[in-house]
Amino acid sequence: MDWQADGYDVIVAVSGASGASLGVAVLDRLTALRVRVHLVVTDSGERTLAHEIGPEAHGRMLLKAHRCYDNKDIGAAIASGSFPVSGMIIAPCSMKTLASIATGVSGNLVARAADVQLKERRRLVLMTRETPLHLGHLRNMTSVTEMGAIVMPPVPAFYHRPRSIEDITDHLACRGIDLLGLSLSHQARAWTGEAASNQPKIAIGSAPKSRA
Ligand SMILES: Cc1cc2nc3c(=O)[nH]c(=O)nc-3n(C[C@H](O)[C@H](O)[C@H](O)COP(=O)(O)O)c2cc1C
Repeated sequence: MDWQADGYDVIVAVSGASGASLGVAVLDRLTALRVRVHLVVTDSGERTLAHEIGPEAHGRMLLKAHRCYDNKDIGAAIASGSFPVSGMIIAPCSMKTLASIATGVSGNLVARAADVQLKERRRLVLMTRETPLHLGHLRNMTSVTEMGAIVMPPVPAFYHRPRSIEDITDHLACRGIDLLGLSLSHQARAWTGEAASNQPKIAIGSAPKSRA
């Protein structure tokens, strides 16, 4: 695609689910990769950023992004399919924003931009965060998956032995970025098999030992 000749443009949205640091980690990683980030933060996203990280967190994100948009600005460039971006990631994605996307109710810029990614058949990665889930949540996840989105709940992996919350957040951000399918180096540390690691041997998938 021609517009990618000088790099990638990606929309990053932060909605009001817990895990605001995921949005920060995704933004930091993408900007380090010289991807131009188009940032939208919902009102509730601003609130969780302040609550979970601090009052200055949102302002710091605005300074790092290539362009920032008001969630009420449904006339913004990223609201149109003619504006060339490579994809969008919502990190974290609330159940409200998920429901808006699942039903095509494009009442704000985040939902509209997500809708645009689906209609243009571009990558849309949703880091949906809620637990436990009711049937409506699960149905909405099914709907967006049928429409082409990738649902990636931020469920941590422990096989890489994270030592801090930052390790966990960064690994999840890398997995989300990898799912955008950009032609960049693979971000998340890959599982290379037990033999390659220094772990004690655990027979994954083997039959449990008999107690006899
Ligand atoms: C501290 C805090 C944590 C929240 N965590 C979640 C969550 O994990 N998942 C979720 O779906 N909503 C969560 N909510 C509720 C959403 O913020 C709320 O539904 C909001 O309307 C979502 O709006 P948005 O999708 O436009 O950001 C949380 C709210 C607050 C204040």
